[in-house]
Formats: sequence, structure tokens, C-alpha cells
Amino acid sequence: MVNVLVTGGNGQLANCLDSISNRYKNINLIFKSSSDLDITDYKKIQQYFSENNLDYCVNCAAYTAVDKAESEQEKAFAINEKAVENLANICAKSSVTLIHISTDFVFDGQSSMAYKETDTTYPIGVYGTSKLNGEEAIKSICNQYFIIRTSWLYSEFQTNFMKTMLRLSETRYELSVVEDQIGTPTYATDLAEVIFEIIESKSNRYGTYHFSNEGVASWYDFAFTIFEEEKKKTKVIPIKSKDFPTAAQRPHFSVLDKSKIKEALKIEIPHWKASLKKALINLKNIQKKHNE
Ligand SMILES: NC(=O)c1ccc[n+]([C@@H]2O[C@H](COP(=O)([O-])OP(=O)(O)OC[C@H]3O[C@@H](n4cnc5c(N)ncnc54)[C@H](OP(=O)(O)O)[C@@H]3O)[C@@H](O)[C@H]2O)c1
Repeated sequence: MVNVLVTGGNGQLANCLDSISNRYKNINLIFKSSSDLDITDYKKIQQYFSENNLDYCVNCAAYTAVDKAESEQEKAFAINEKAVENLANICAKSSVTLIHISTDFVFDGQSSMAYKETDTTYPIGVYGTSKLNGEEAIKSICNQYFIIRTSWLYSEFQTNFMKTMLRLSETRYELSVVEDQIGTPTYATDLAEVIFEIIESKSNRYGTYHFSNEGVASWYDFAFTIFEEEKKKTKVIPIKSKDFPTAAQRPHFSVLDKSKIKEALKIEIPHWKASLKKALINLKNIQKKHNE
């Protein structure tokens, strides 16, 4: 049995890992929420690792409030940089492979070509900077690590763009959504599958990888397609980022090049529209269960 600690065990990605874990009988996931195991608590993490026989740690814990990070810098860096550095040190000492999730927000969005892992990083906000610093810490400390940068995560779990759009469509005739931020929506369950694939294949091709769904979209395209799929009457109005001011600046273009991960794991990645259909079905199944 392969023992895998999942930090941030109540978050969106952790829920997606849990939702498909029954397909992987040899992998034992141990979920720890922020209240069970705070990753900023060095001693507690160290004690947990010394008392448990772990093979992998999947770090799903993160400070993910992109706008709030601008005014809560200390907290963002404590969780996304310092705690990640500590986790990396503990993983390295215990020979535990660290699978860490990072973000397209490490790039400034000035490119018009899909970003490769080797492209220059230049975050334009606190969140992206704190995540990049976390990456750098892992690279300088660990040998056995996978950093997976992903983008625009959504799923049937927790709060995310897909669920927010569906909620707003219940009360709104019209919704304005930005059309000049281009990236790729990623179904978090597709990312969860990739994480399982890394563990199951016992891959030792450590390093940094990009993963999102295939295809390219704006947030406007994403919202439009959600409503189209669900036959919602709400009209989506395309607007410019400058007309929707937010505390944090976001990259205008953050499409990721996935060639490296496709080659390393020999996988095909679904198009975002195909994965959206799956997510919408899974959301309905969950809602049905809740109502039973
Ligand atoms: N969501 C996206 O669009 C997106 C895009 C690109 C990359 N990513 C990255 O993907 C990863 C997973 O994201 P997600 O969407 O699953 O995020 P999420 O739903 O916000 O989950 C993050 C989890 O981390 C937990 N956490 C926060 N501080 C913690 C601490 N000190 N100790 C332990 N746990 C702590 C949170 O718990 P509490 O709620 O109790 O605080 C939450 O359950 C993150 O690394 C994120 O940076 C996300």
C-alpha cells in the first residue's frame, strides 16, 4: 500500500482526489484539513511525519484568495512560501515525495504563446509571488518533487467559477464577464487523475510540469458555455478587465503548454468543454444525493 498525506484536505482539489480514490486500490490517501494539520505549524507537521509511514505528500493546502492576498500579504506568504519550505524540508528528511500544486499566476501574461515550464516567471500579484516563492523553496530543498502548475480550477466541490455562475443565473437576467483574460479552465478531477497517475506509475521524472485541460477560453467563453450547456436564459455580456476592477491584477494570457506532462505520463488530456460536461453531470449527481 502506498501511503499519501493530502494536506488542505477540505479544499476543492482534495475533494476531487477523494471522489475518485476508489479507483486506486493500492493508494491510501490520508486527508488532513487545516484544523487537523495546519501546514504553518512546523512542529506538528514534523511530528506527524515522524509518527506515520508516508510515501507521498500531496500539498493541496494553499492561501488561494487572490484578491484578499493583496491586503493579507503576511498570511499569503506564511502559507504559500514559508509553510511550503518547511514541508519541503520535512519531506526531504523523510524521503517522502512531495507533489505540490502551483499556478499559472507565476507568469505575467504578456506572452501570446502557451507557457512552457522553462519560460521566465514574473508574477504580477501577491498570490502569484507567494506561490512562486513556494516553488523556488521546493526546488532548492527537495530532490523528489513534482510541482504541477495549473489554471482556472473548477469542479462540483467548494466554491468556484462554474458554481458561482450557476448560482447567479438563478437570479440574474444578465451577467458581465471579462473577455480579455485568456487561459484554460481545468476540471480539478482531471488534475486529481494526473496526481494518481504520478503515484501509481511510481514516476521518478521529478520536476515542474504544466497541466490544464486542452483548449483556450476567456472567462466570457467559460460562462457562456456553462449557460449554453445548462440551457440557462441568463445573457452573458463580454466586458474588459479595466471595467471590472479587482484588488489583484491578473495575467491577460495564461495558457499552459502541456507537452512535457503528456510525454512524461503518456496521457491524453481532455478538452475543457468535454470536461465541463462531466463536471456538470457530477454536480447534478451530488445535488441529487443531497436532496435524497
Ligand atoms: N482554484 C484555482 O483556480 C487554482 C488555479 C491554479 C492553481 N491553484 C492551486 O491549486 C491548489 C488547490 O486549489 P483549490 O482550488 O483546491 O483550493 P481551495 O479549495 O481553496 O483549498 C485550499 C485548502 O487549503 C487549506 N488551507 C489553507 N491554509 C492552510 C493551512 N495553513 N494548513 C492547512 N491547510 C490550509 C484550506 O482550508 P481552510 O478553508 O480551512 O482555510 C483549503 O481547504 C492550490 O495550491 C492553488 O494555489 C488553484
